[in-house]
Amino acid sequence: MAEPCTLRLDKMLEHPAVADAVADVNLELKDRIAYQPPACDVFNNPYTTLETDPQYVFEIDKEAHRQLPHIIGNTVQRIIGSDAVADETRENYGSARNIGIVFSGGPAPGGHNVIAGLYDAAKRANPDTKIYGFLMGPDGIIDGDVIELTHEMVDRYRNVGGFTMIKTGRTKIDNRKKMDLSRETCQRLGLDALVVVGGDDSNTNAAFLAQEMFEDGVQVIGVPKTIDGDIQVRDAHGKVLCAMSFGFHTAARAFSQAIANLCTDASSDVKYWHVCKVMGRVASHLALEVALQTHANITLIGEDLADYVDHARLENALKEGVVDYTAYGMTLRHLSRVVCDAIMDRAAVGKNYGVLVVPEGVLEFINEIQVFIIKLNTIIGNYNKVHDRDFHTAFPSLDDKLEYLRRLVRGIRKDVSYNVWNARDDELFNDIPAFFQEGLLTERDSHGNFQFSQVETERVLLDLVKDYLGILREKGRYKIGVHNEQFVKTLQKSGLDPELYGPVLFDNWKQAQYLLIKQTIISKKTLKSALVKAGFLGDDDPVPSPIEKIFEWSVPKFKTQTHFYGYDGRGSDPTRFDCIYTYNLGLTVFSLIANGATGQMAAILNLEQDFTSWQPIGIPIAPLMHLEERKGRLELVLEKSIVDVNAPAFRVVKTFRDKWLAAVPGEDHYRHPGPIRFAGNSEENRPITLLLNAMGGHLTTPVDRDQ
Ligand code: FBP
Repeated sequence: MAEPCTLRLDKMLEHPAVADAVADVNLELKDRIAYQPPACDVFNNPYTTLETDPQYVFEIDKEAHRQLPHIIGNTVQRIIGSDAVADETRENYGSARNIGIVFSGGPAPGGHNVIAGLYDAAKRANPDTKIYGFLMGPDGIIDGDVIELTHEMVDRYRNVGGFTMIKTGRTKIDNRKKMDLSRETCQRLGLDALVVVGGDDSNTNAAFLAQEMFEDGVQVIGVPKTIDGDIQVRDAHGKVLCAMSFGFHTAARAFSQAIANLCTDASSDVKYWHVCKVMGRVASHLALEVALQTHANITLIGEDLADYVDHARLENALKEGVVDYTAYGMTLRHLSRVVCDAIMDRAAVGKNYGVLVVPEGVLEFINEIQVFIIKLNTIIGNYNKVHDRDFHTAFPSLDDKLEYLRRLVRGIRKDVSYNVWNARDDELFNDIPAFFQEGLLTERDSHGNFQFSQVETERVLLDLVKDYLGILREKGRYKIGVHNEQFVKTLQKSGLDPELYGPVLFDNWKQAQYLLIKQTIISKKTLKSALVKAGFLGDDDPVPSPIEKIFEWSVPKFKTQTHFYGYDGRGSDPTRFDCIYTYNLGLTVFSLIANGATGQMAAILNLEQDFTSWQPIGIPIAPLMHLEERKGRLELVLEKSIVDVNAPAFRVVKTFRDKWLAAVPGEDHYRHPGPIRFAGNSEENRPITLLLNAMGGHLTTPVDRDQ
């Protein structure tokens, strides 16, 4: 017998193959880091200049004029490549600068490439320029927590996901003290420019910082980041300036790959409904892109639900001479009915499985929930303003919070909010499950936003769906269709005549491929009564086992698996689209800084077109701002862009809704986008929503056109 071979662990670990296998850096990462994204043509010139593009106009809010006088006059700037510039411009362009950069808000794939683009362009213009990274988001600016970025650091993270290099945070620089501390940090570092990479709230912050530090000569430039895809900028005439924030494509692709895999699994073991909540704090852009990428059976789009009008209810009310405002928008109960109908329709053709995509922010678009969110935001905001202690510290448990609300109703607490919350609100609020009450009362983020990721949105909906499916089952309406051939074969195998039993058992005998057990047969007892009544059985005879088997097949069990796609996609390595987009945003940032801009947001025009048509620009932030209710008071903010239900992307999804639900006999229509590939010809090169929305303004259906 051969001696067992012994191997010393330390020797084994020294083996190059083992060292390679356990190294932190693998081949994919090496490839990513080595990839050099192409630069837009303008950046292949030694200099760039800025040119106002007068075709874009804005409707400016009076309050923006008042609060942001130094930057309100900014215009859209095109970046132009130049071989030769005047001496003074050349000197300015190439002067040594100190530039700080900060990530703000949730991570989005591609952030490191914004740094890489900025770093490369700045060092090319002058190797003595220093790039500083503020650590942990805006707190880094407030606390002066900063590092100088080196070549090695930047190289390590090229084309790599996350915001790992300098981390991020959600603090808002929203009061005098924080503003003063931030200004001090910028002065201490001798900063010429500060770059804020963030979402709508962070770009709002960038505008206020630009205003505040205008006279100090510190330029502030924003960069549109968020996987949510809700920074989409148009001018007053609807001309697109920024079609999509960076990170959206990667997150949507990552979610879609995982969800497409669930579609495969669901249609293989045919026993689960997979319920997938996908991120997107308010807007449903990510869910919409997932629908286009995967053709999941049901995808809810919040904006579509808000757009719903119950015409029957309106007409009934009109007959009585009143307008029923509750007919506008969908209630949670109604939504659960819509979902149940879809589930029931698929079951009727033998498909008691499927994939349901729920946008994280869907509840924001449900009438009654939105009212709660607004009222509770106001109450919490008011409390924090008036008292020394924060609401959540003062009322730590759910019971404490509910008691506070009750006291508001009873007028015991004559707080500023006592007229916000009435007895009806309290009654309705007490009707919803505790976990959801807790969710609605969770701490708002520093921008006053409701934190949807903390609420089990899908559970709220699923509980209602399960309840209603139970009722439908009791009523005999929710049944699994039995394939005609399966029925015939099963009976014939036992010598029973399908022609005899068919009409007794099924409502649609001879009318459809999938047979539906009669509505009146909802249990073994009612099954037996039907057979006795038809004269096939005596009172004491047992139901023939093949018939019992058929009945059992037809009884649906609604089994679900829930999933949350958010943080995983946010941490994904960027797609090639996001790599190139963000690297060019970084280059754009430098051009804006080198040409003296401030209060501008870097962007790229024509993202939906071939790379050769991409055009870097600066968008003025101040003219985009308007007043919005935050933490119970009106604040000047950058508007979030939600899904336009009249735009092509949604209209296409709506058109294919029935096809993708596939509540007909035959195959489902799932689409498999596959994993995010960094290279290769089959790698899709931009979001589908971007492509579709670029195809036109508002679509008309043939019917609209005929009218
Ligand atoms: P940003 O808007 O800051 O980019 O963040 C978006 C997001 O990913 C949302 O989709 C999600 O609701 C939220 O962040 C989660 O926040 P947190 O990281 O604080 O849990």
